[in-house]
Amino acid sequence: MPTHTATAISNPNIAFIKYWGNRNNALRLPVNGSISMNLDGLFTRTSVSFQPSLAFDELIINTHDVMGKGLERVSAILDIVRENAGLTWKAEVVSENNFPTGAGIASSAAAFAALAMAAAQAAGLNWSEAAISRLARLGSGSAARSVPTGFVEWKMGTSDNDCYAVSIAPPEHWSLADCVTVVNAGHKTTGSTEGHALASTSPLQASRVADAPRRLDICRSAIFNRDFDALAAVIEHDSDIMHAVMMTSQPALFYWKPATLSVMETVREWRKGGMPVAYTIDAGPNVHVICLQEIAANVADTLRALPGVANVLVATPGKSARLVS
Ligand code: DP6
Repeated sequence: MPTHTATAISNPNIAFIKYWGNRNNALRLPVNGSISMNLDGLFTRTSVSFQPSLAFDELIINTHDVMGKGLERVSAILDIVRENAGLTWKAEVVSENNFPTGAGIASSAAAFAALAMAAAQAAGLNWSEAAISRLARLGSGSAARSVPTGFVEWKMGTSDNDCYAVSIAPPEHWSLADCVTVVNAGHKTTGSTEGHALASTSPLQASRVADAPRRLDICRSAIFNRDFDALAAVIEHDSDIMHAVMMTSQPALFYWKPATLSVMETVREWRKGGMPVAYTIDAGPNVHVICLQEIAANVADTLRALPGVANVLVATPGKSARLVS
């Protein structure tokens, strides 16, 4: 008899080749594959407990009760698990992040990866990593990539069944660091889910998507060969193209702040001077400055001193989502 309770931990991830736009919004089937690195040191810990006495699913994030859209998104994942396990009990979900909420660091990837793993285990489902990644994807696309370890590729697949993420290299493969440069602690105006739905309104999206297999190949090879210059060139280019799509959507999405641009400029200058650093930016104003671990402490200190920079968190390649006792 399973206990109907389980706890999982998962790291967020930073995309090197970005996911932007779905061919099916409900199933989160992306229009292109993506590649990312899990971020050690930052994590979400989520416990799921199915209980016969509960009338509704309950969600507590960082000690606060969550209702409305946030709860609905979690219940949709729990429904899939219940259906597969033949379970009718509602669940209590308790989740905590160790990184500051509202700091502008995307938490949905780590949150849905940990939720998928804990919920499947609590319901007694003995699912493969691929099946957990697919389930996490339904909650948040990028969460599919927080399930496998280290450096990860999410294949676009042909349907719901083969659309999941796999590890392409373990965390110890390459000593990279992500100096997460927080320039604005305010909440973003347009969330990723709404943004994905707007991607196809940009005339640039079709060419971004058509060229994605080429960028994925370059990025994958750069990781395999630990070729920083090749990685730097392709991740900055991929991030710039995604933001060009965002800025030319209808309505237009401008995520950058003045400090975002000055950090980008500083990073480009540093690289011209021979430093192994590169930037990439998600759906917000913060800049992820990717560098070799040996210079990460110096890079982070220098970034902290720049005007408009509120905080810098340093993360190294992280492991897979995992169950904890
Ligand atoms: C810009 O995975 O947050 O960070 O599936 O709607 O939850 P939903 O979107 P989400 O989108 C991530 C967008 C991105 C790029 C990336 O992580 O690949």
